[in-house]
Amino acid sequence: MTSTLTRRVPLGPLTDLPVGLGHAFQVGDTPLAVFRSREGKVFAVEATCPHKGGPLADGMIAGDQIVCPYHAFKYDSATGQCDQPSACALKTYAVSVVDGAVYVEL
Ligand code: FES
Repeated sequence: MTSTLTRRVPLGPLTDLPVGLGHAFQVGDTPLAVFRSREGKVFAVEATCPHKGGPLADGMIAGDQIVCPYHAFKYDSATGQCDQPSACALKTYAVSVVDGAVYVEL
């Protein structure tokens, strides 16, 4: 039987996330790339680009898009959809910020 339960995992203070850049986290078996936009939004996505394995935490945010550091494919930070028709979408994770602390739902 497959469980659909999610768990909320603390990632640390919001101020530890660099503005406009990615930050890598490992939560159990799940590697994540987490971004804080200049507008104050926080996004969490799978850590590896589905194109050719680029480390997305080394990428950056442009508007609401995550830019892969390898070939600059752009992914919608909310939906994970790619701007390239041949590329797969990223898995995205819900994030919340409570009292200055960042949490991700896995
Ligand atoms: S590996 Fe990410 S765009 Fe190519």
